[in-house]
Amino acid sequence: MRRKKYLTNKVKINLHSLKCFNYKRKFIHSINHLKVNLDRSLIVNSVINYIEKNKQRYLEELKEYISIPSISTLKENKSDVEKCAGFVRDHLKKIGIKKVQIFKTERHPIVYGEWMGAPGKPTVLIYGHYDVQPVDPLKEWKTDPFKAVIKDNKIWARGSNDNKGQNFVHMKSVEAFFKVKGKPPVNIKYIIEGEEEIGSGNLQKFIKKNKNLLKCDAVLISDTSLHSPDTPTISYGLRGLCYMEIEVIGPNRDLHSGTFGGGIANPINELSKIISRLVDKDGRIAIPGFYSNVVKLTEKEKENYSKLKFSEKQFAKELKVKELTGEKGYTTLQRISARPTLDCNGIFGGFMGEGAKTVLPSRVTAKISMRLVPNQDPHEIAKLFKKYVNSITPKTVTVEVRELHGGLPFIMSLNNKYIVAASKAVSKAFGKQAVYSREGGSIPIVVEFADKLKAPVVLMGLGLDTDDIHSPNEHFHIRNFERGILSSALFLDEISRM
Ligand code: BES
Ligand code: ZN
Repeated sequence: MRRKKYLTNKVKINLHSLKCFNYKRKFIHSINHLKVNLDRSLIVNSVINYIEKNKQRYLEELKEYISIPSISTLKENKSDVEKCAGFVRDHLKKIGIKKVQIFKTERHPIVYGEWMGAPGKPTVLIYGHYDVQPVDPLKEWKTDPFKAVIKDNKIWARGSNDNKGQNFVHMKSVEAFFKVKGKPPVNIKYIIEGEEEIGSGNLQKFIKKNKNLLKCDAVLISDTSLHSPDTPTISYGLRGLCYMEIEVIGPNRDLHSGTFGGGIANPINELSKIISRLVDKDGRIAIPGFYSNVVKLTEKEKENYSKLKFSEKQFAKELKVKELTGEKGYTTLQRISARPTLDCNGIFGGFMGEGAKTVLPSRVTAKISMRLVPNQDPHEIAKLFKKYVNSITPKTVTVEVRELHGGLPFIMSLNNKYIVAASKAVSKAFGKQAVYSREGGSIPIVVEFADKLKAPVVLMGLGLDTDDIHSPNEHFHIRNFERGILSSALFLDEISRM
């Protein structure tokens, strides 16, 4: 009974549908916070009520979206990717976006939708990706990756978070406006692509050719993380990426390691030496020229970093590592978001089967990625990488260095009015002051939006770093799904008053 005191007529929420008490408390807190601030707008309150009443159905629809295995990198899933584009198209139509079109590309389709019924109001371009990462290793999954399960207030499946769950939020907020008010408060465009997880190559070309179609005042994206579980976060930076492959080639065939070992260089041994010379003892990348264009953290940013709560101890404990590592002179939080890094993602070659086989392999390959920060350019870095690897490769073997793909880093000003509006919206939805952060991951298309469309990009992330995106048992907190819908609705309302 006491709990009912929190509620007023303006915001009625069905408490019985909220399962866990803690969760109820937090939700009431954030709704309560909203009431105080939203007296001005009965419309927003009714949108919030609509969202609250329909959230169960929203989840059922999200499950359907997730059930399509739209893995962009695998050829065998090509028709699923297409089917998923169809789902997005149909869903946009269903929520009230009349003009929806699928654009075919050389690989996976792009879904475009628009509703331009608010003349004089800003136009928001909502971006998301309906493609997902592969699911391997399948045996590590506790549930079927494409049959979403709701457990412990989370939804578990591939894509539940990255990015179907997160982009669905912006369809549901718009649906609420259509249903309650007859229309959204601003003009809306959607661009939902199927190639983000493979570098967004075709969307890059599409943007170049369709600048007019995509013209907007701001881009809105939810594909990043919250700084911590209950902290609303607007990200203002993303790292870029330079992805390389090194192949070290030794003798013309696999050899008996007893007969030849000691006289012929082993490519795996030589590759290990090369890899060990890529990063020095201070955690700095040893490639000459690598840091030439790196923009240093400003004093203001350092101050912001120092205010962000982050426990290095907890971070290590959660991942079960005894000690942390990284570039000397920087905190862990800076290292994982604002500094460039180099990682070996995989090595294959030689005997990889069960048991022992005595062999001196003929060749071996390593996949190496570098996360970049402003103003590093992936192609320039690739050249420097090639040159350096060639220079440190022993004469006993030959080396081939290939550039697989890349993406530019991104950073934007915090003074932009859309960023400020987004910060206000998420603060209201979460009932807590938002923080600004730089994201360590990459969304390759973001720079293209900023450069080609000259639009500010709002990164309204809703995931958590512990949500296991790209890993087995990916999940998304239902609390963040709901707060995301609220945040989205409040953002659209906020900018309609600008
Ligand atoms: N949603 C992620 C970006 C991200 C990663 C946000 C980590 C927050 C934390 C996005 O879908 C992604 O995975 N991007 C790739 C891009 C790459 C394949 C070009 C990445 O960062 O590896
Ligand atoms: Zn991803």
